[in-house]
Amino acid sequence: MWHSILDVSTGVGLWNYEDPGFFDRLERVRVSGLTRPFQVTSGVIAALGSALSCIGLGLTLVTFNPLLLPLLAFGGLPLLLTSRQESRLEFRFNVTQTQPSRLRAYLAILMTGRDEAKEVRAFDMVGNLRRRFDAVYSRYLDDLRGHLKRRTALSVIGQSGAAIVLGLTLLALAWMVTGGGLTIATAGAALVAVRMLASQIQGLTGGVQAVFESGLFIDDLQDFLALAPEPATAAAVRPFEQIESRQVSFSYPGRRTPAVDGVSIRIRRGEVVALVGENGSGKSTLAKLIAGLYPPDQGAVWWDDSPLSELPEGTARASTAVIFQDFVHYAMDVRTNIALGQPEQPVNDDGIRRAAAASGVADFVDELPQGYETMLTRMFDGGHDLSGGQWQRLAIARAFYRDAPLVILDEPSAALDPRAEYDLFSSLRSTIEGRSALVISHRFSTVRNADRIYVLDSGRVAESGTHDELMATDGIYAELFRLQATAYLPDESR
Ligand SMILES: Nc1ncnc2c1ncn2[C@@H]1O[C@H](COP(=O)(O)OP(=O)(O)OP(=O)(O)O)[C@@H](O)[C@H]1O
Ligand SMILES: [Mg+2]
Repeated sequence: MWHSILDVSTGVGLWNYEDPGFFDRLERVRVSGLTRPFQVTSGVIAALGSALSCIGLGLTLVTFNPLLLPLLAFGGLPLLLTSRQESRLEFRFNVTQTQPSRLRAYLAILMTGRDEAKEVRAFDMVGNLRRRFDAVYSRYLDDLRGHLKRRTALSVIGQSGAAIVLGLTLLALAWMVTGGGLTIATAGAALVAVRMLASQIQGLTGGVQAVFESGLFIDDLQDFLALAPEPATAAAVRPFEQIESRQVSFSYPGRRTPAVDGVSIRIRRGEVVALVGENGSGKSTLAKLIAGLYPPDQGAVWWDDSPLSELPEGTARASTAVIFQDFVHYAMDVRTNIALGQPEQPVNDDGIRRAAAASGVADFVDELPQGYETMLTRMFDGGHDLSGGQWQRLAIARAFYRDAPLVILDEPSAALDPRAEYDLFSSLRSTIEGRSALVISHRFSTVRNADRIYVLDSGRVAESGTHDELMATDGIYAELFRLQATAYLPDESR
């Protein structure tokens, strides 16, 4: 079951991760996927066992008096009806509680996570977070109380119905004895059979209820598993002469204004192309569209003569190495952090060293206690942590190691010191050796040597050209460039 769930969570398109409903489902199946199928099995076994006992005891009762059987059989009916209702209540309660329970888990992570611990302490947030947690928790307890009351009421109704039927059966038995239809000895035997049958009927309805209730959760699980795409055969790396986005638009779900709005850009083989623009202008989103992580709402990304949608699924991912602004710090050793750039290939130590040299990882790796074998986390024994800029160099090494025809670096120099930044970009062309790079940066020193610079503004391309052309145009780029440049100059030369 875990394999099936992970097939879905890792196989579905990235846009699912923008959808709270997806997380709700994932949370529910994480819990029910592991317990409910088992409950169906045990429910079926219990129901079968009870059904067999019922048949045996029923036959016995019929030999005493055929009237007794239909009476008892009705005893199961109220239970069956109310237990179905109980199951529906249980499922609905579960669905409505999924999001609050995720919120509770999230607040718990804020108070227990390593990454969060320093900020939570520095801001003395603990009291505030605890109050939030307690509020969510007490709301849950209130809801749970209401839910249990409703469930108990239903259960009392069902059980009372069954008790009444049992009482009527016993009365019928007494009536038969007084009417002389049964001897005391036979009536005693019948009494035992009636009691046993009644409890077997309870077992039968209990089993049926377990199957019914689990069935509701398994329907939910099945809907989730149906999201699984066909397992894709690994797409081949596709070299290109030119990648072009043509009038590409994309809006995040629930947002009215598009994040990327009719953008056309071009990246030729061997070029270094830069994207600049203010916060929120759509640079990272465009990078995801070009890397094939989101399908555009309009327009298309063309690899030479083919739009991405006509190439084998996964071609863009296989052919790009992208390091995001918020890249992942893998709690694994240095070598693995780089080697995950090519996760399906045997580790190539030469390649690792080359990527480490080009990204500046080589500068600090020898000082780590176990060099490339050093575990990068403090959460496990023998681990070690890196500085922000060292992590960034490691992420860049992962991108270089991937050996893809297009490298996308989103804010690669944000945490780099000036020397590391200078080294990285002065050697970028020789590092990528005829491959292409799309670099997103707010540091104009990083982008000024690009072959072409696109300036994004509110999701649109406002200007494009080389540094010199853009300076001559004297538009947004020139303004932002001068703003940054003057901050570095002595006052009298401004
Ligand atoms: N996951 C998301 N869901 C909804 N809106 C988003 C999401 N990610 C980004 N946005 C919105 O899309 C727009 C473009 O965001 P994007 O991350 O592409 O900007 P950016 O140019 O990379 O900015 P920055 O310089 O701050 O990195 C912004 O208005 C942002 O608020
Ligand atoms: Mg960004």
